[in-house]
Amino acid sequence: MTNRTISIPTAAPVSSFRCIACGVIRDNVSHDFRCTDCGDLLEIFYPAWHSEQMATNAPGFKALWQQRKTSRRAIDESGVWRFRELLPALRDWDQAITLREGNTPLYNLPACARIAGVKQLYAKHQGMNPTGSFKDTGMTVAASFALQEGFRWVACASTGNTSASMAAYAARSAMRSLVVIPEGKVSWAKLSQALDYGALTCELRTDFDGCMRVLNEVVKQWPVCLLNSVNPYRIEGQKTGAIELLEQFDGQVPDHIIVPGGNLGNCSALGKALLELLDLGLITRTPKVSVIQAEGANTLLRSVREHGGKKLIPMQAQTAATAIRIGSPASWKKAVRVLQATGGTVEQASEIEIAQSKAEIGTDGIGCEPASAVTLAGLKKLVKQEFVKQDDIVVLILTGHLLKDPEFTLKFHRGDLFKGTEYEQQAAALRLHQRARVTLEPTADAVVKALEQAEKSTPPN
Ligand code: F0G
Repeated sequence: MTNRTISIPTAAPVSSFRCIACGVIRDNVSHDFRCTDCGDLLEIFYPAWHSEQMATNAPGFKALWQQRKTSRRAIDESGVWRFRELLPALRDWDQAITLREGNTPLYNLPACARIAGVKQLYAKHQGMNPTGSFKDTGMTVAASFALQEGFRWVACASTGNTSASMAAYAARSAMRSLVVIPEGKVSWAKLSQALDYGALTCELRTDFDGCMRVLNEVVKQWPVCLLNSVNPYRIEGQKTGAIELLEQFDGQVPDHIIVPGGNLGNCSALGKALLELLDLGLITRTPKVSVIQAEGANTLLRSVREHGGKKLIPMQAQTAATAIRIGSPASWKKAVRVLQATGGTVEQASEIEIAQSKAEIGTDGIGCEPASAVTLAGLKKLVKQEFVKQDDIVVLILTGHLLKDPEFTLKFHRGDLFKGTEYEQQAAALRLHQRARVTLEPTADAVVKALEQAEKSTPPN
């Protein structure tokens, strides 16, 4: 790479908070990151972006971001802070708490492309982040600002990944962390991360939405910084997933980005990034951002189909994809705005479809956690509906690593994932996708026989 000199903006980007509903602008926020006038969510915006200076600097950003890849400075090695021109400014960039998050791979998925019926299918694997999920990209920013503001405690309610990520970033910076999770509904892999990183971990006898309600009370009584995705700094960090993705496409813009929907922070963040890049003239069109939910946690889908995206009715969520088992998603209005602004849509996946799609992604040698697999399940439907065309370039956002929920995977291959549930009969159709373990005598003969047997059977893809 040539070592060109690039003009680096000298003034730190100035940002403010703006209410997404009433539009009021503030420089400070309250403990729950909600508008003190109307109670809705806040977003970060950058008034100076329409200035002449930004118009002059923006064209140089792409080259600047590339150049930083050769730097050994911690914030340049981070796949989040590398894009800091589009993030709120820390007083001292070198105080950022970073685990070198981001920098996640873009894989092609040939087997899944054939299954879904598209020619070009990719996975942006956010499960390859330091704690195994996309949450790290937002957490590095939100935790850094919590530290800058002098907080000693950070907290979140979580279905598991946010808590794992928050606990890690808090541990890196000597802040203490409080994790509030639904008892028995968080995979033990995620739970073990929070414990190892030293979080005070409280299991409550309720669901994620109940945990969120309790935590909202706690933040009024204890000086703790809330690090759920209502915290707009989280959204800013998570934007970088989309910026990095476009960089990996080398200027080409994919037609579709398909993302799982839970609390709906991630789709909001990716959409915000794309719209900002468009605004800054760094792209000329945006991909369509579509959200896929689990059928048992499909509030956004029902809001869009039944109420034109104007109202959201909370539900009692139920799905084995525990990461997205959320019945009252905080960022639903932001998500609706992204669907409308990018021309995306919302679909749902049944429990059986999620399990099958997860195994199919596995056959491409990638793997992901159940919540991420809704993307492939949804894509199959969007292709059938001709919303996605055969020639379109499609990117699935895989949000979590396969090892985040090994119990789901083992149960699936043992054939007892749906035992005793209403899906037991339908689950018979999954047999083709299940890989059985074989227990053998400890002899070479026995293993060779198993190989001969395997040679005769059809490979999974
Ligand atoms: N995929 C995974 C693996 C997740 O952990 C989550 C959310 C989502 C998708 C949905 O993203 O909430 O931004 O729409 N997990 C949160 C948590 C809720 O607590 O870990 P979203």
